[in-house]
Amino acid sequence: MQEIRLFSGEMIPLERHKVRIVQKLELLPVEERLSKLQEAHNNLYLLKNRDVFLDMLTDSGVNAMSDKQQSAMMDADDAYAGSETFFQLEAKVQDLFGMEHFLPAHQGRGCEKVLADLLVRPGDLIPMNYHFTTTRAHIVRCGGEVLELLCAEGEVYTSDKPFKGNMDNDALRTLLKNSERNIPFVRMEAGTNLIGGQPFSLANLQECSGICREHDVPLVLDASLVQDNLYFIKSRETNCREMSVREIMRAIADCCDIIYFSARKFGFARGGGIALRESPLVNPLQELIVLNEGFLTYGGMSVREMAAITVGLEESMDESVISQGPEFIRYMVEELTKLGVPVVTPAGGLGCHLNAKEFVPHIASDEYPAAALASALFIAGGIRGMERGTLSEDRHADGSEAHASMELLRLAVPRRVFTLSQIKYCIDRVHWLWQNRELIAGLRFTREPKILRFFTGELEAVSDWQEKLVARFRSDFGDSL
Ligand SMILES: Cc1ncc(COP(=O)(O)O)c(C=O)c1O
Repeated sequence: MQEIRLFSGEMIPLERHKVRIVQKLELLPVEERLSKLQEAHNNLYLLKNRDVFLDMLTDSGVNAMSDKQQSAMMDADDAYAGSETFFQLEAKVQDLFGMEHFLPAHQGRGCEKVLADLLVRPGDLIPMNYHFTTTRAHIVRCGGEVLELLCAEGEVYTSDKPFKGNMDNDALRTLLKNSERNIPFVRMEAGTNLIGGQPFSLANLQECSGICREHDVPLVLDASLVQDNLYFIKSRETNCREMSVREIMRAIADCCDIIYFSARKFGFARGGGIALRESPLVNPLQELIVLNEGFLTYGGMSVREMAAITVGLEESMDESVISQGPEFIRYMVEELTKLGVPVVTPAGGLGCHLNAKEFVPHIASDEYPAAALASALFIAGGIRGMERGTLSEDRHADGSEAHASMELLRLAVPRRVFTLSQIKYCIDRVHWLWQNRELIAGLRFTREPKILRFFTGELEAVSDWQEKLVARFRSDFGDSL
């Protein structure tokens, strides 16, 4: 994908693919959107997909597949053990990462579980650029503690810094030199999810890797969002301009001892896996994979998905393929910025992130501003985003709220799924909401799970603000949906 200039002078991101399979969508009237939201207890995960118009919850497992992925799926070799399709996937991972071993898993958190079971002991400290929800949950489950060492600009909402996912390497150096606690590994996350899909630079990763090697601490890469990170390194890091995407991928892998990924994201399919070099960790990891995920030649994945991942990984080395998400996101970010809507800049991967702290500053963190904004946007447009803020944090052990450092509403842009007119519709409804933001108020729990509460928790509005929002919509849009 590349921006293209129209005769009018307008610049638009132009799709370099055509749509060959479609799914019909319904846009419910605003009153029904409210009642479906309330039936789902104000938790957008609990909505039925048939009631959603634009599903911008996530890109996980919902990116559009290519014709070549679909045809590879038909050709997959079905076997519990020794499937040829697995060996093709293994060869692709070995080729891209230059690592000898590939252990399959059913998805990203399956990798996180076995890595935490093997490597994390009570009292351990695991430094990382930033946590991800499931990653931290598994580390904490094993008695470890996460320490975020994100660079200073990482949590600044509006910035022109191109690599906000960088590790603070000075802090890491000091920690590894002085820490009295056991540090089983350092974790870097590509395309850092919870701070707005922000990348690290290759230079930063290389420095981080040097520090880890100096102190003999393994470096583990979460590559679930590496395809966006690759695109940003290629387009933003001056020293990498002449490198191919494949060369950048190998340079990243050369820095790491273990790489795991969710193939619901990297590979544009569903599954996951762990790659590593020859090491004493291989055998115990294999045992945990067999115990938790499945036999070593499928790890919980169907052979069809493995075939799709193999093709998807190769397609991720094509700049015109991996640019599609970030270019659409940049378009959204730029258009919303022109309209005065607070968004995370620079545009990252994964999705466009609204800054809920500034959008609804009148809502206290304890009443979940980003979740309230998510519910308001569903009312405004049948658009399902994902809260990435205090609601996504579990409470402290003493029961108090763990306030997130950023309150974001993520509008994910699954790759090749939406058209530009759908993106424009989304921008319009966000704009309308921005103009009516004073109507939005908070949410409170009516049922609150202890772990990963955002997935299944139930909430209600603190007042009748949602009904008032519906009334304003009707008066502004008349009979229109
Ligand atoms: C950075 C990162 N790590 C791990 C995961 C977990 O992967 P999965 O959803 O496949 O379990 C995700 C999923 O969104 C992710 O974004």
